[in-house]
Amino acid sequence: MQNTHEIAPGLHWVGGNERRLQRFENLFPLRFGVAYNSYLIVDEKTCLLDTVDSSISQLFIDNVEFVLGGRDLDYLVVNHMEPDHCGNIETIIRRYPNVKFIGNAKTFQFFEQFYRFDASKNYKIVKDLEELDLGSRKLRFYTAPMVHWPEVMMTLDFTNHILFSSDAYGTFGAHNGTYFADEMEYRRDYLDEARRYYSNIVGKFGIPVQSIMKKLSNEVIDMICPLHGPMYRNEELALILDKYEKWSKYIPETKSALIIYATMYNNTESVADKLATRLGQLGVRDMRVYDVSEFDPSYLVSEAWKYSHIVIATPTYNSNVFYKIYNLLHELTSLNLQSRKFSFIVNSSWGGQTLEQLQALVEKMKNIEIIGEPVLIKSTLKDENIEAIDNLAKAISESIHKS
Ligand code: FEO
Repeated sequence: MQNTHEIAPGLHWVGGNERRLQRFENLFPLRFGVAYNSYLIVDEKTCLLDTVDSSISQLFIDNVEFVLGGRDLDYLVVNHMEPDHCGNIETIIRRYPNVKFIGNAKTFQFFEQFYRFDASKNYKIVKDLEELDLGSRKLRFYTAPMVHWPEVMMTLDFTNHILFSSDAYGTFGAHNGTYFADEMEYRRDYLDEARRYYSNIVGKFGIPVQSIMKKLSNEVIDMICPLHGPMYRNEELALILDKYEKWSKYIPETKSALIIYATMYNNTESVADKLATRLGQLGVRDMRVYDVSEFDPSYLVSEAWKYSHIVIATPTYNSNVFYKIYNLLHELTSLNLQSRKFSFIVNSSWGGQTLEQLQALVEKMKNIEIIGEPVLIKSTLKDENIEAIDNLAKAISESIHKS
């Protein structure tokens, strides 16, 4: 049974929700599911923009058939060839054998890598900025390489100023009956998940994101339709564009301290809490303190994207950095996080190279500053450590207040 929604005249959302999936990409935990968006334009020509994951194939096909109402499908635009959007290309082409399958050269290369189905007779290769006339509206294709994958395109309906943005501007979280960010408590319910999605999935590609934003900067865009999560218009469109400007340039949103600690017997935790209290007493607000073992790394990556100052507190484990801290720092480096200020707390009972390893991990990031002297603890927090914690708190606080 179909479930569709006309989001603008002649433009129908024909995607679906997946709430049973535990982990997106078998990696990122989903608290509120995920939406796979697909859009169908009904004009003099009919045009489907992307398909959906194979987990919701039946619903999707019902949706497309329902909206077409017996008409043939003229075009299938594939903006992104990742399987969460491509699981139904073959089904669509088998059902609508006259359809023109629109992509760029890389799109078809990836299609042939992922699928054995021969769709070459349907291929219509487009180049950057090529246009397609659907009747009352025209589309223009923008290649956006590495806005997640190399073949990515965005499609602009430049008659109606609607951008189909591929993964960009997407978020985790299924739809809840309304489809536009301005029809829900988006800032309360989705924005953190949009940041987690961006930082973990697109975060590495800040320069390509900047490039496509620049390429589109002279275009009027009144609506953005991403492949996951709500669509944007009005104030929420301005909000997400502003967030992407910051996120893609690695500009922190919050001038405050994010304290991430590992602890085995609560000793390192007590140092992290002591530092947080001192920072609070010095006027620092809106801090967050996280136990690295209690959170999936994707949440901590997202917070690292948000905060200006990051304090890492770790015990020494097998003479090294506690491996969940190591993994997190490695991931932040892989994702290209930059322009942050780091401070360190190291707990060690009998030696190790933990501080040196922490410094080496962080030095791989660009535009990093180390704030204050590292606090070195022997097993447990004692009076003799308080001065060092106070000094570190003062250095962090001064840095936050002057930045
Ligand atoms: Fe939602 Fe890069 O796929």
